[in-house]
Amino acid sequence: MTEQVFDAVIIGSGPGGYVCAIRCAQLGMKTAIVEKSPCLGGTCLNVGCIPSKALLHSTELFHEAKHGEAHGLVFDNLRPDLGKLMERKEQVVNQLRKGVETLVSKRKITIFHGTGTFDSPTLLRIESGESVQKIEGRNFVIATGSVPTFLPFMQPDGERILTSTEALSLPEIPSSLLVVGAGAIGLELGSVWARLGTKVTFVEFLPTIAAGSDKDISRMAERIFKKQGMAFHTSTKVTGYEVVGNMVKLTAEKKGKQLELEAEKVLLSVGRKPFTEGLGLENIDLTTDERGRIPVSQFQTSIPGIYAIGDVIEGPMLAHKAEEDGVAVAELIAGRKPHVQYDRVPSVIYTDPEIASVGMTEELAEAAGKKFKVGTFPLLANGRAIAQASTNGMAKVIADAETDEILGASMIARGASEIIGSVVAHMEYGGSAEDLAGTIHAHPTISESFKEAALAVDKKAIHLL
Ligand code: FAD
Ligand code: NAI
Repeated sequence: MTEQVFDAVIIGSGPGGYVCAIRCAQLGMKTAIVEKSPCLGGTCLNVGCIPSKALLHSTELFHEAKHGEAHGLVFDNLRPDLGKLMERKEQVVNQLRKGVETLVSKRKITIFHGTGTFDSPTLLRIESGESVQKIEGRNFVIATGSVPTFLPFMQPDGERILTSTEALSLPEIPSSLLVVGAGAIGLELGSVWARLGTKVTFVEFLPTIAAGSDKDISRMAERIFKKQGMAFHTSTKVTGYEVVGNMVKLTAEKKGKQLELEAEKVLLSVGRKPFTEGLGLENIDLTTDERGRIPVSQFQTSIPGIYAIGDVIEGPMLAHKAEEDGVAVAELIAGRKPHVQYDRVPSVIYTDPEIASVGMTEELAEAAGKKFKVGTFPLLANGRAIAQASTNGMAKVIADAETDEILGASMIARGASEIIGSVVAHMEYGGSAEDLAGTIHAHPTISESFKEAALAVDKKAIHLL
């Protein structure tokens, strides 16, 4: 049994963990990563952000080509080759896995493959099959991420009832798919399969889809996605299911009425929960909160020298948030004073059009008792959107009524994921709607609709009557 001592031991190699390890190494610490999976990269790289975006891109190309006639593009015998599509997705994931491995190994970070369990606040046991190793750490960072949640009466079986992991790798295009939960995972993976020809029906507990989005945006999203052929049952609660032959029969309740729905597969996408199983938190008297998260104050747990970051703590369960946490905690260990502002973490749902937002929605601003002004701009009046036939969408800016400071912004538009960053930057520097309105945007771009929405905050939009 070997016992090595490290300045920083990072448990989990997702976007939180590996980024934290790299920053620790940059800051001169002797660093180790402990990862229970054979591959580095965590949920995001292996079964999350990256494979889903690869599939979204391929299927968007297919969908565009299918509707190419208006552009004078006619494809004969156009059809998806699912095998190749999945192969490309795997190549993308493999390329990035190699990239992470190189980044980590070149910085002389030691990688231990195995499950990390605390024996004491300074000693971690690493088990992989028969092999057991123990390492000592002056500091530990828990970056063990999250796993899907299920319904008490509905557990995934990997065959008919799927989680996102199986829905990213189906060997055949299902004829029909019921998606329980119209949040980020449901909308993205529902879009993938709908574009490939699957009849996709959503069952969503809340009155609107894309939970947490601005109401104007989520209503518009639902209208657009319905036109794309997807069906939605909102304000609907799933009450039970049974597998009958090759089909799943689902019962649900919508405003007091019983519904019966049927499909070949069901995707359960009702949220994710922090993952701490096997960490041995009980051995170090570290308890989780009612939502399973590790309580922290500035990433510091109640045990000195043990930190936690990413999906396993408070804040949005997003890869870029986990990365920021990772950098911040490395700097904290090195004695610096980092700062992560969770209310400026952008979020994107990568449907077509994409739904991107940062800061407060109108509903949140109201709930917070803020006095605010709103500016909106429809893509129907945006030249680039008309040129590329993507006029479905809008931009919305919310500014403080007195100071004009931008409180939040949302956009539903093709390419919104790349555009939202400019508003995040304005907010980061305390920018006002007037600042955004006065920023020169290239023409013709979809991003101009944010400038126009910012102008509209003071009723000064140019391209809108
Ligand atoms: P994870 O990435 O979950 O990594 C945790 C790692 O810890 C895992 O590798 C796990 O094996 C390891 N581990 C756990 N316990 C132990 C242990 N005891 N010992 C050793 N290792 C352990 N977010 C976005 O921002 N953008 C997106 O587009 C996006 N798309 C997504 C799509 C899907 C389908 C899913 C499921 C998620 C998506 N997310 C997206 C969310 C994103 O994946 C997570 O927010 C992110 O991965 C969290 O990073 P993390 O480092 O906290 O944890
Ligand atoms: P989610 O929280 O985004 O959406 C879950 C949806 O399920 C909600 O709308 C909720 O109202 C609904 N729901 C819950 N219980 C239900 C029930 N019994 N019946 C019907 N509907 C029910 O969770 P999701 O989509 O599973 O994703 C998990 C997390 O992963 C996200 O919150 C996000 O943090 C991350 N993610 C991020 C992505 C991105 O950034 N593009 C993509 C995919 C995931």
